[in-house]
Amino acid sequence: MGGMSPTKGAVEMQENLKAILQNALQEVSKSTDMNQLEVCRVKYLGKKGELTVFLRSMGDLPPEDRPLMGKLVNEAKDRIEGLLSQQKEVILRAQREERLKEEEIDITIPGKRLLRGKKHPLTKTLDEIKRIFMGLGFSVVEGPEVEWAYYNFTALNIPENHPARDVQDTFYITDDIVLRTHTSPDEPRTMEKTKPPIRVIIPGRVYRSDDVDATHSPVFHQVEGLVVDEGITLGDLKGTFDLFVKQLFGEHIETKFRPSHFPFTEPSAEIDATCFVCGGKGCRVCKDTGWIELSGAGMTHPKVLERCGIDPQRYSGFAFGMGLDRLTNMKYGIDDMRLLFENDIRFLRQF
Ligand code: DAH
Repeated sequence: MGGMSPTKGAVEMQENLKAILQNALQEVSKSTDMNQLEVCRVKYLGKKGELTVFLRSMGDLPPEDRPLMGKLVNEAKDRIEGLLSQQKEVILRAQREERLKEEEIDITIPGKRLLRGKKHPLTKTLDEIKRIFMGLGFSVVEGPEVEWAYYNFTALNIPENHPARDVQDTFYITDDIVLRTHTSPDEPRTMEKTKPPIRVIIPGRVYRSDDVDATHSPVFHQVEGLVVDEGITLGDLKGTFDLFVKQLFGEHIETKFRPSHFPFTEPSAEIDATCFVCGGKGCRVCKDTGWIELSGAGMTHPKVLERCGIDPQRYSGFAFGMGLDRLTNMKYGIDDMRLLFENDIRFLRQF
């Protein structure tokens, strides 16, 4: 029967094959991503794919029709595979172009300028103070801002009925807990923990219930100093503080002591320094006195030493507590304390 026209079954099958091929080619060429492409491949060429199933059904054909049909099926398979890999290229190229477009860099756009940060004037002054005292062998320690009334007052020999404890001046959290009103509570804290010799400065934030104006703020900063050792005298306090002030502000600045009173020091003093603005001649800033008040200070009270387990017969100490905000304002000629806390960038940029 060779050379005869195909049987009716074969003609029908050829029609089927053509339809499958056409559908496959159409679907493949419509695929726009790799997933769709894979779905097409499985649908036609996979184990249960239409073309595979078709190939298996050829066993139903009379043997003489099989070679031709086999050839047609193989051709169809080749065309589908060819188109699959062609379409794959198309998709990959489109994706690459898409990505390149997204990553496109316009080198004519002006660059982003990075703003350089600056240290706050308070930080600058404190850094300088730390540097000076560390050069003198002091270490820097810190204490809690939320403090026991015990350390803030009692341990400092401030009696129960002292006006400094007044709710008018102090932020109380409970009867026993306050926002520290000075950095002095870290003196007894340090003395309880460390045996002499002690040489520390203690910077930090302090709180008082003051209204805000050019010279007052409910939050401000102090730097405490404490030295305890055998044979420490008022002369050591005077010499240390004078050296410190000269290093911070210049050799031409003098210091002087004025008698004062603090419950935790005996004797007590206020330390003044030559007015930086007028050099001592008298001006608006120093209220025509030629001097500016810098710090409270004194010889640590024996009762304070004793409470911390330090023998006042053997050891003595000096202490001081100065306002960092005031020092900073003087150093940089700032005339309003509020500027330090408002964080106006136009102000801060100047330092
Ligand atoms: N704590 C005091 C205040 O806030 C300042 C002070 C005075 C600190 C004398 C001291 C000192 O260490 O010895 O006003």
